[in-house]
Amino acid sequence: MTKRFGTGARIFHWLVLLLLLVQIPAGIAMIAPALEQGSIDRLFVLHKGLGTVLLVIVLARALWRLTHAAPPMAATIPEQERRIATAAHATIYVVLIVVAGSGYVRVVGEGFPIEMMDALGLPTLLPLMPEVALWASLVHRFSIFLLVAMVAVHIAEVLRHQLVLRDGTLGRMWPPFGGGNVVIVPNGNGLATSDGDAAATPDGDADAVSDVDAQVTTDASTDETSGGDPSPISEGSPGEGPVR
Ligand code: HEM
Repeated sequence: MTKRFGTGARIFHWLVLLLLLVQIPAGIAMIAPALEQGSIDRLFVLHKGLGTVLLVIVLARALWRLTHAAPPMAATIPEQERRIATAAHATIYVVLIVVAGSGYVRVVGEGFPIEMMDALGLPTLLPLMPEVALWASLVHRFSIFLLVAMVAVHIAEVLRHQLVLRDGTLGRMWPPFGGGNVVIVPNGNGLATSDGDAAATPDGDADAVSDVDAQVTTDASTDETSGGDPSPISEGSPGEGPVR
């Protein structure tokens, strides 16, 4: 039986992805030479503010993950592949923290403002440290490549499980909320949700849902804290203008 992550983990997952889809293009665009200064400044303000929000969310997410064990992966996934996936997921958490943390250190360490946080009256958490900020800038610029590469492999793997192996892996993290605790995987022919929605099978084979009776339970106790992997993390500018 393939079980879903709990609602908390799923909301964190899709929220981080959504914010990254804004944050990464903003970061690339703001250093593009083609833009005029006004747009660059606005992008810097957005990137620094959103990046700081992301840092807090990513730290909260890591804490959540450490205290809420992941449900076991599909039984059909070989042990070695599970271990690799678990290590890859843990690495994505670490790289996310490094990317966001280095961005924060790079800006605050050099004495530049984070306008959105200033507007909220939030204090700067670090002292001036220009040398560290310089290193943080390098780390920020290079770790982002690692993050993008790891997320790309992660997405490719999910697509392989969803489209080729059809083992319900995507359903473990989808939908962002609701959907019940169990992912219905009809004989590997397609996917349906635990709502029993026959139309959700890709081949539209309504019979497929009845094939999975044995796999569907009303396991109300299943959430991130139960029946899961016992080891929590084991799964799973400066420049002329003031805005930098
Ligand atoms: C997960 C969060 C973050 C992501 C994904 C991200 C992504 C990026 C990307 C893609 C770039 C362009 C890199 C390049 O090719 O040079 C960049 C640059 C930059 N980011 Fe971030 N960033 C994040 C968090 C932050 C935070 C929290 C801050 C500051 C509060 C920040 C400040 C900057 C600055 C100042 C630059 C310009 C490069 C430099 O001058 O060092 N970023 N970021």
